[in-house]
Amino acid sequence: QTGAFTYDPGFTSTAACESAITYIDGDQGILLHRGYPIDQLAEHSTFMEVAYLLLNGELPTADEHQKFVYTISRHTMLHEQLATFYRGFRRDAHPMAIMCGVVGALSAFYHDSTDITDPKQRMIASHRLIAKMPTIAAMAYKYSIGQPFMYPQNDLSYTGNFLRMTFGVPAENYEVNPVVEQAMRRIFILHADHEQNASTSTVRLAGSSGANPFACIAAGIACLWGPAHGGANEAALNMLREIGRPERIPEFIGRAKDKDDPFRLMGFGHRVYKNFDPRAKVMKATAEAVLNELGVTDPIFDVARELEQIALKDDYFVEKKLYPNVDFYSGVILSAIGFPTSMFTALFALARTVGWVAQWNEMISDPEQKIGRPRQLYTGSAQRDYVPVDQR
Ligand code: SDX
Repeated sequence: QTGAFTYDPGFTSTAACESAITYIDGDQGILLHRGYPIDQLAEHSTFMEVAYLLLNGELPTADEHQKFVYTISRHTMLHEQLATFYRGFRRDAHPMAIMCGVVGALSAFYHDSTDITDPKQRMIASHRLIAKMPTIAAMAYKYSIGQPFMYPQNDLSYTGNFLRMTFGVPAENYEVNPVVEQAMRRIFILHADHEQNASTSTVRLAGSSGANPFACIAAGIACLWGPAHGGANEAALNMLREIGRPERIPEFIGRAKDKDDPFRLMGFGHRVYKNFDPRAKVMKATAEAVLNELGVTDPIFDVARELEQIALKDDYFVEKKLYPNVDFYSGVILSAIGFPTSMFTALFALARTVGWVAQWNEMISDPEQKIGRPRQLYTGSAQRDYVPVDQR
């Protein structure tokens, strides 16, 4: 009974949607993309192969993979007018602010792929989004450091092309470091999709109204930005830097357990994984490999490993089932490669775009789909009559 209203007792929470794309078992730490375990995909797949799998439901044959890579590579360039769009931002604008703006503006430039009732246009829009996100993210980074934009070079891999657009300069030839390319490939695969998380649900809800795909992905980017979600990778690395050295870990563990302190261990905990995040295991192994291969000794990696060990033995974290999630180690790798923390969530958005477009396509191509309309439990005032201001 809330006020004069009784809410519908038949109103029960039902699953948000049906989907055949990703399966998660939070207790067993299982993550499958179209039935394939995430660790096997991270080990053996290219990011384009995973994108094809998420979009089409099956791993591609060699011919299908080659055609898909060719198709994506034909959409990597951005309309030249959009380059001037960047110049409207301050140089210190957060890359996620730029990505929200630029991706949302794409419908103004590619309106020949905004008719969501046309399957051909839906697929062209999906290919454009997957292809252009690396260009958009790299341009946001270049703009922030005052270096010239780099055009895509389509004979490189998806990941290699992104690294060259980010770290290459027109004055020199850029050699893609295979160790870095391998690490980026794994990071992109580990972030590709994750069932109905907050940002994917945002994309689906926006898409359910018939909004164009570019606007829907911009909505997903906005939601991902939050520190409780995709923004956690940036917050986790900033936290590791603030801790600074292993001796300070107990102080922060104490703060994380203090109910009066809003501090939380960033990169720890998950709404679904109450055992371990299978992506964190692959991410940790990748961090070790990258630091060793690049000869980078970063004290924050020691802090991260020590923090994980202490937290895994701490009764509070064990009782609350808090384990490292995908965001805990990713920042160590990205920092070792040379990305500023401000780019971390932009890279998450770049990779998650393949999951967002796969989930959007799955929803929008369902003839039964209707506009989303989450229900509420009303807890406000009962009905009452208006009171003139001189009687209040
Ligand atoms: C991602 O949904 C997805 O799939 C997301 C994602 C994806 O791929 O899309 O996996 C990506 O968003 C990973 C999560 C990244 N976020 C962080 O690392 C931020 C830090 N983590 C927390 O904010 C938190 O763990 C959440 C938001 C991730 C999950 O929160 P829940 O499931 O809503 O759990 P909760 O907030 O109800 O916490 C349960 C208890 C609480 O204590 P009590 O109120 O029960 O006493 O655990 C505590 C919390 O205070 N807790 C933490 C904690 N996380 C939860 N305490 C300290 N540090 C933490 N990190």
